[in-house]
Amino acid sequence: MQTINRLEDLRKAVDALKIGGKTISFVPTMGALHEGHLTLVREARACADHVVASIFVNPRQFGPTEDLDAYPRRMAADAALLEAEGVAILWAPTVDQMYPQGYATNIGVSGVSEVACGAARPGHFDGVATVVCKLFNQVRPDVALFGEKDWQQLAVIRRMARDLDLTQPHVDNIVGVETVREASGLAMSSRNQYLTEVERDRAAQLSAAMRRAIAAIKDGADVTESLDTMKAEILAAGFTSVDYGDLRDAATLETLFGWDRRDARVLVAARIGAARLIDNMGME
Ligand code: PAF
Repeated sequence: MQTINRLEDLRKAVDALKIGGKTISFVPTMGALHEGHLTLVREARACADHVVASIFVNPRQFGPTEDLDAYPRRMAADAALLEAEGVAILWAPTVDQMYPQGYATNIGVSGVSEVACGAARPGHFDGVATVVCKLFNQVRPDVALFGEKDWQQLAVIRRMARDLDLTQPHVDNIVGVETVREASGLAMSSRNQYLTEVERDRAAQLSAAMRRAIAAIKDGADVTESLDTMKAEILAAGFTSVDYGDLRDAATLETLFGWDRRDARVLVAARIGAARLIDNMGME
């Protein structure tokens, strides 16, 4: 595996991988890798001839009071994990490479970026869309893979790729990979490291409450009542607040107050200890 920090070196290395019409799949990350990321890499290997992964803790997607400084950074351990999974190139740019002096461009995706986590974290999805668009232009992959755990992020990236007519990758080749969960049901996340043992046990109740709400809605229960019960159960489990707990259209993230069997998901963000956890599940 080549670890590359300079854009000109990346371009040459990607060109070399593409010789003979070989294809590239891409897994962008912020590091602190866990089984969820490694699942993305394994899926990526099945999608193309070579896998490129990136590690970049993107300052533009953190708010002024968020955890940019505390965000776990473990470059050497992460690189070893990626190498063991057969990644060809690890793209690990510095902040200066990504945002050189005078950098001034921002990508904003209206609508889908503005609700749910976008309402609680202003500017977050602009930062995500901007860095992902830059990473796509740098790596020029045939396929890109993202965890469905950040469902809203996936919806924003797909909207951006469609609206900007991206071809590398084309929107149809932006692949969502099912959330990887611990045995307790807790969705894997780099931010789970902020939880104590007791909080981790309690956090498992989040997905259990979501499953019960989905089952109730599918059985014909009122959507608002089912979601209110879910939020009460999450608080009773020891979460200190629920930022949102909604049923939304899977693509537009429009709020749904009734379920008409369309592709929809329950999305939740809730706080426990020092962590703000997000999770989502489909109605299928
Ligand atoms: O999901 C993440 O790790 C990040 O938001 C991403 C997609 C790598 C952009 O910084």
